[in-house]
Amino acid sequence: MPSKSASRPSSDEETEAEPKGEVGLEDLPGVGPTIAEKLRESGYTDLMELAVASPGDVAEAAEIGLAIAQKIIGEARRKADVGGFESGTILLERRKKLGRVTTNSKALDELLGGGVETQAITEFSGEFGTGKTQLAHQIAVDIQMPPAQGGLSGEVVYIDTESTFRPERVVDMAKGLGLDPETALGRIHVARAFNSNHQMLLVQKAQELAREKPIRLLVVDSLTAHFRSEYVGRGELAPRQQQLNRHLHELLRFSDTYNAAIVVTNQVSARPDVLFGDPTRPIGGNIVAHAATYRVYLRKSKPPRRIARLIDSPNLPEGEAVFSLTTEGIRD
Ligand code: GTP
Ligand code: MG
Repeated sequence: MPSKSASRPSSDEETEAEPKGEVGLEDLPGVGPTIAEKLRESGYTDLMELAVASPGDVAEAAEIGLAIAQKIIGEARRKADVGGFESGTILLERRKKLGRVTTNSKALDELLGGGVETQAITEFSGEFGTGKTQLAHQIAVDIQMPPAQGGLSGEVVYIDTESTFRPERVVDMAKGLGLDPETALGRIHVARAFNSNHQMLLVQKAQELAREKPIRLLVVDSLTAHFRSEYVGRGELAPRQQQLNRHLHELLRFSDTYNAAIVVTNQVSARPDVLFGDPTRPIGGNIVAHAATYRVYLRKSKPPRRIARLIDSPNLPEGEAVFSLTTEGIRD
């Protein structure tokens, strides 16, 4: 298990992380200022995060015994009121808060049942040049618009693993929508992930940011590239799968906690239904398949067109949508 606190740059702004008027970490029995500080440094800044954490991780983060960690988590659960069971009423309330962001293509929005959903992971997969990164840029601009125009008046965390984030593209796309380019860029918080551990750590960093800013979208472009290049060979398949699974669940947790949309990209190899690893053993593919709510497979058509296909969605009919990649962004 990689340490959550490993080589984490400590930041000063974390001292004011305690939620206003609510129960803070220090209010938990067994949590003094030192443990609270260590927990915060590892990304556990509110009760909800502690409540859903694993005892092993908490023990490691706070440098305490497992039993104490378990007790602290138990208290956090009680206080955060997350017993594990939620009444249908609460679930319905959560569903009501569910938001949707336009992709700027009507056809693609329809394919997705009305746009990219919050409280869910949407995966865009496809070969190189199929428009995954362009879509990620576009949605990062779209989410900033008010709800009446298909956005959520939100800001964005953009985890860039392949150094393909281009501010110039944001400028073009913002202009295309009549948004001020400077403002649009200011609302996209970009971090370059140097390896898969760093990538996972950035999701925790994103939680700190989401406490200060209305982050409604988290992009990971690409979700799998680092994992793929770091864990090579058959013997590495199991650890890779484990880490990727953990990453995806941290992303899901983020989407739940902040009612945010998660957009991830994934390159494909030969077979469209095998999105990760060896086509004869689609293990990583299954991991992504279980965690991602919406999976969109992209392929090239007559330029500048691309075809999007929804694959194995539980609640939407399979279908296809055609969109175009233009200088101003995604268009029908
Ligand atoms: P990989 O990351 O390599 O797997 O590819 P990807 O799926 O992320 O592809 P990406 O989104 O980068 O799409 C690249 C394509 O977008 C190019 O081939 C162009 O067709 C289009 N594109 C990118 N930038 C521009 C631009 O400024 N103007 C126009 N008209 N098209 C662009
Ligand atoms: Mg790309």
